[in-house]
Amino acid sequence: MKSIKHTNVHRPFRDSKSKCMQVIAVTSGKGGVGKTSLSFNTAVALAQQGRSVLLLDADFGLANLDVMLGVRVKQNLSHVIAGQAELKEIIYEGVHGIKLIPAASGRLDMAQLSIQQQASIIHAVNDLEIDFDTLIIDTAAGLSSSMFNLTSASQHVVIVMTDEPTSLTDAYALVKLLHRHYQVSHFKVVMNMAKDLASGMDTFMKLRKVSDTFLDVTLDLIATVPFDEHVRQSIRRQKSVIDLYPSASSAYAYHHLARQFESWPLAQKTEGHLQFLFEKILQQKHHLNEGLYCE
Ligand SMILES: Nc1ncnc2c1ncn2[C@@H]1O[C@H](COP(=O)(O)OP(=O)(O)OP(=O)(O)O)[C@@H](O)[C@H]1O
Ligand SMILES: [Mg+2]
Repeated sequence: MKSIKHTNVHRPFRDSKSKCMQVIAVTSGKGGVGKTSLSFNTAVALAQQGRSVLLLDADFGLANLDVMLGVRVKQNLSHVIAGQAELKEIIYEGVHGIKLIPAASGRLDMAQLSIQQQASIIHAVNDLEIDFDTLIIDTAAGLSSSMFNLTSASQHVVIVMTDEPTSLTDAYALVKLLHRHYQVSHFKVVMNMAKDLASGMDTFMKLRKVSDTFLDVTLDLIATVPFDEHVRQSIRRQKSVIDLYPSASSAYAYHHLARQFESWPLAQKTEGHLQFLFEKILQQKHHLNEGLYCE
């Protein structure tokens, strides 16, 4: 298996010849903090900026990106894992041409995939012949091994948190586990549902302070998305806030976040889209046998 060269050179996003792309995992310590809303709305903002986006719904327990994207899913990842479908048959196109790989909704047995099953998903994505600029992985809430593997193998890790004290504690626990057991050292933080910029920054600084004291990690606050009822209203209507309420404060924040992606390093695709992801998962195999909650 060839290794992939990561580049720090800033380049135009879409470059089909050199096959550059980004793999971004959106994750959180605490559930219900806005990962799926953020993945969806940022994907819409990216698509409006002319980027091709693939969303991987990795919330194997409770998938809902298909509903937001307005697609009727007949088959999903569980069919691929069971050998009943090929991955290319379960890629659906939703609003703004955003592509979706749906998870297995309501199939709770999918929540704990084996390493072989995780690898088979990555392998199948790797073999895809569609081209995309950005892959956003919307991970599940809860500290499962599939969440850790997908997150740590991604090129960029975005942690979503709110300014509640429990979210802070859980975000720190997640950073600690990803750093100590999965060697992730760079984290991009989004403060969601913030009362205002100051309270978002205040919570982020608390996370940074405790992380600086006990861990050797880099945390960057990349966006603050305000608490905005329009997010809930638009999700209820199965639309993005960007489409429904383009001048809402949250829509502005999602656009701002999407524009930031442009300055992030791209990965070079060689043999396939996610070769490096697959390699990393295999390298990390031994971690699966270790206790995740040892401290
Ligand atoms: N900025 C925001 N302002 C107000 N409400 C928000 C905001 N972001 C998300 N929400 C709402 O919070 C709820 C949870 O959001 P979402 O489902 O995106 O979270 P999640 O982190 O994906 O949850 P889970 O961990 O269960 O997957 C939804 O009702 C959503 O509409
Ligand atoms: Mg979710």
